[in-house]
Amino acid sequence: MKERWDERYSIADYVYGEEPNLYFKEVLGDFVPGRILLPADGEGRNGVYAATQGWGVDAFDQSDQARDKALQLAERKGVNICYQVIDFKQIYETYPKGSFDAIALVFAHMPKEIKADYFPQLPDLLKAGGHILLEGFSKNHVTYQQKNPGIGGPLDVEMMYSKELIRELFPSLEIIALFEQEISLNEGLGHNGIGSVIRYIGKKRNGE
Ligand SMILES: C[S@@+](CC[C@H](N)C(=O)[O-])C[C@H]1O[C@@H](n2cnc3c(N)ncnc32)[C@H](O)[C@@H]1O
Repeated sequence: MKERWDERYSIADYVYGEEPNLYFKEVLGDFVPGRILLPADGEGRNGVYAATQGWGVDAFDQSDQARDKALQLAERKGVNICYQVIDFKQIYETYPKGSFDAIALVFAHMPKEIKADYFPQLPDLLKAGGHILLEGFSKNHVTYQQKNPGIGGPLDVEMMYSKELIRELFPSLEIIALFEQEISLNEGLGHNGIGSVIRYIGKKRNGE
């Protein structure tokens, strides 16, 4: 898996472009900047964007190639981000509880086991009142991939999301937004055309 992503990111182009994901950008614009964690941040388009908006940014990915390109992008944009190469399974030994105002999962497609075993504790990393925001391909995206492989997305439907799955993964969070949407993506070489996504904002209640 890591090798596949290192190879994918070994080209000069940014696979998903250098601009942030549009939903991430829109949602972030409604929050007061604080500290944000971006798991599976890839080549850093979202982490670097957050830093340009005044956020303190922690990001990680399993890919060394991704980190190198993320740090180059940060330098070009004149910002600093703290980017570690770790596996998702190392998240809780890497970041202390109660550290973040927001955690953003943008196309963070993980195997079913990682989602089940590691996502439910993500709210522990948030401060009270903090948010998880997520955009990922929905399980219905498979039919869009069949029509247009250029839209991208994982080849295993178990790595995708549904509204029911989000409710199961984050039972303690207040749902601020949760919907499935057909959208048009134009993100670098990797996401082009019409696809189906789950979009989610969850808020950690005060006192939890
Ligand atoms: C579709 S890309 C999305 C990258 C980035 N979030 C974006 O939107 O541009 C998925 C990313 O998940 C990372 N990833 C997959 N499994 C991982 C794991 N177990 N631990 C850390 N990163 C992982 C990959 O290396 C890849 O960079």
